[in-house]
Amino acid sequence: MFYPEEIVEEVRMKNDIVDVISGYVKLQKKGSSYFGLCPFHNEKSPSFSVSPGKQMYYCFGCGAGGNAITFLMEYENYSFPEALKVLADRAGVELPQEEMSREARAQADLRSSLLEINKGAANYFYYQLKSPQGRLGYEYLRNRQLSDDTIRRFGLGYANKTWDDLYRYLKNKGYGDQLLRETGLFVIEERGARDKFNNRVMFPIMDVNNRVIGFGGRVMGDGMPKYLNSPETRIFDKGRNLYGLNYARTSREKYMLICEGYMDVIAMHQAGFTNAVASLGTAFTVQHGALIRRYTDQVVLTYDSDGAGIKAALRAIPILKEAGVSARVLNMEPYKDPDEFIKNLGPEAFRERIEKAKNSFLFEIDVLKRDYDLEDPEQKTRFYNAAARKLLEFPEALERDNYIQAVAREHYINYQDLRQLVNSLGSRLGPLPQNKEERSVSSYRDRKKEKEDGPKRSQRLLLTWLIENPKLFEKIQGIITPADFGEELYRQVAQMVFDNYKKGDLNPGGILNYFINDEEEYRTVAGLFHAGLKESLSSEEQKKAFVEIVIKVKKNSLDEASRRATDIVELQEIIREQRALKTLNISMD
Ligand code: UTP
Ligand code: MN
Repeated sequence: MFYPEEIVEEVRMKNDIVDVISGYVKLQKKGSSYFGLCPFHNEKSPSFSVSPGKQMYYCFGCGAGGNAITFLMEYENYSFPEALKVLADRAGVELPQEEMSREARAQADLRSSLLEINKGAANYFYYQLKSPQGRLGYEYLRNRQLSDDTIRRFGLGYANKTWDDLYRYLKNKGYGDQLLRETGLFVIEERGARDKFNNRVMFPIMDVNNRVIGFGGRVMGDGMPKYLNSPETRIFDKGRNLYGLNYARTSREKYMLICEGYMDVIAMHQAGFTNAVASLGTAFTVQHGALIRRYTDQVVLTYDSDGAGIKAALRAIPILKEAGVSARVLNMEPYKDPDEFIKNLGPEAFRERIEKAKNSFLFEIDVLKRDYDLEDPEQKTRFYNAAARKLLEFPEALERDNYIQAVAREHYINYQDLRQLVNSLGSRLGPLPQNKEERSVSSYRDRKKEKEDGPKRSQRLLLTWLIENPKLFEKIQGIITPADFGEELYRQVAQMVFDNYKKGDLNPGGILNYFINDEEEYRTVAGLFHAGLKESLSSEEQKKAFVEIVIKVKKNSLDEASRRATDIVELQEIIREQRALKTLNISMD
C-alpha cells in the first residue's frame, strides 16, 4: 500500500475533521475548538478536543491525538488504506487503484472476507441455538443461569453435532476452501473438510468494534478440552484482544475488572458489572496492558482463587504497573471464580469484595509470606528480609514509608524495626534494583520521569505555541532553529513546522501523516502540537511565559552543545551565545 502524499493530503483536506468526528462524538464549541467526551477512554467531563484550525483532535485526558484519518483508524480499528478509502468516498475523491500493491489489496480483502465469514458463522450458531437441534445447548446455557437477553447480547450459539454442518453452509454461500481454511473454523484435508467445533456451545469473540474475530466453544459437560478456541488468524491476535472489551469500554466505572474466562465475563456483565474483561486463558500480555490503559488506569483482578489464578495475578501486576495501570486484587474465597461467587453470594456481596480488593503490592507480600513457616524464627527473619527487599521497589521515600507502615500493620511487625531493616538493606544494596521484576518497575518510573522532563516539555510547549500563533515565528527569528530541539523526533518535526511556516502553510495535520506508520512516534508527534496550553497568548503572564520557554529551549540546546563540543573555537562560540542569551530581550508588543 502506498498512496502519493498529494492524494492523502487531498483526502484529508476535503474532510473537515469537525464534520468527521461529529459523526461519532457529540461536540460542543468552546472558543476556537470543539470539546466532547473522549471515545478512547472513559470519562465524565469532556477533555477531548477537536481543533478546526489544526485539523487535529487531542485528548487532554488520555493523550490520544491525530487527524481525521487516524481518528477512523483508532475508532473503527481500520487500517490506513481502509480509513483513507472511507474518507475519500465521503469527499468524492477518486483513489488511484493501482497505487495499492496487489498484495496489499489482497490482504485487505482477505481480512474483510474473514470478518464477514466469522459474522456469518456467529449468526449461524445463534440460529442453531434457537432451533430444535440446538435445544441441548440452549438448556445448558439456561442451566448456567444465563438469561435470553444475555445470550443475545453476547451472541452465544451452538455448533451442531454434524461434522460438516457449518462448512456446507458457508460453501453454499460461495466461499472457497482456501479462504475457509484461513478462518480457523475448519479442518480441511485431502480427504475432505470438517468443522472444528462440534456439539459445543459457542462464544463469539468480538473486538472493540463488535466485529467477530474468533470463537470459543465449550463442551456441555465434562469432555476435553473444556474450551476449544479458534487459532490465531489474520484477524485474531490473542495477545491483543480482551473478551468483553467491546462492552466494557463504554461502562461508566473508573476501573475495569479483569478475569480469566468467558463465563466469568458474562456472569459479571449479567450481574451489572459491565466493566469486566478477560484475557481468555492466555497470559496477560504487555499489549493487553497497553490496550487497557487506553480506557482506564485502574483495574481489579478477579482471577480464579486457585494457584493458577494467583500466578496469573502475580504475572499481570508488573505488566499493568509498567503500562501505568494500578491494580488491586479481589479475594474470591471461598469460591473459585466470579461466576461461582456471584451465583452463590449475589452481586451485592461481589461489589463489597471489589471495594475491599487489596492493593497489589500488599497482595504480593501476602503471597510471599506463604513460602515461609512463621513458627520458625529463622524463616520468620527471612520473610522479614524478603519483605524489606521488596519494599525497596519504591524509590520515593514517602511512598516507601507508606508501604512500610501498611506491611508492618498487616503482618504485626514493629514499624520502626521494619523501617530500619529496609533502610539498612537499601544502603547495603545501593540504589540499583536487584532483580528483573524490580528493574522493570524502576524503568517505568524512569520513563515517567522522562515524560515530565523539563527540556522536552519546553520544546513541546514551544512547538504548540508556534502552531497556534504563527506570528510568534517572527519573535524567535535568529534565536531558535530546528537544531535547538534536542530530541531527534522533535527536531524532525520542528524542521517540518519551520518549513511549513516558510511556505506560508502551517499544517500540523499534514505533518502528522509522515509518522502514520509508527504508532508510538505518531502519538508523540500529536502530543507535540498539544502541549497543554490552557490560555491564549493575550495576557501579560502568558507573554512572559513564552519568552521564558524560548530562553529555556535555547539555553538547554547551548548547554547540550557545550557538553558535546570538542573544539575550542566551537566552545568559545557557544560560550559567547550563552552569555548573549542572558541579556536577550524579546519584545512581545
Ligand atoms: P477455567 O477452566 O477456569 O474455566 O478456564 P471457566 O472460565 O471457569 O469456565 P466454566 O465456568 O467451567 O465454563 C478459564 C478460561 O481459560 C480458557 C477459557 O478462556 C476459559 O474461559 N480455557 C480453559 C481454554 O481456552 N481451554 C480450556 O480447555 C480451559
Ligand atoms: Mn467457571
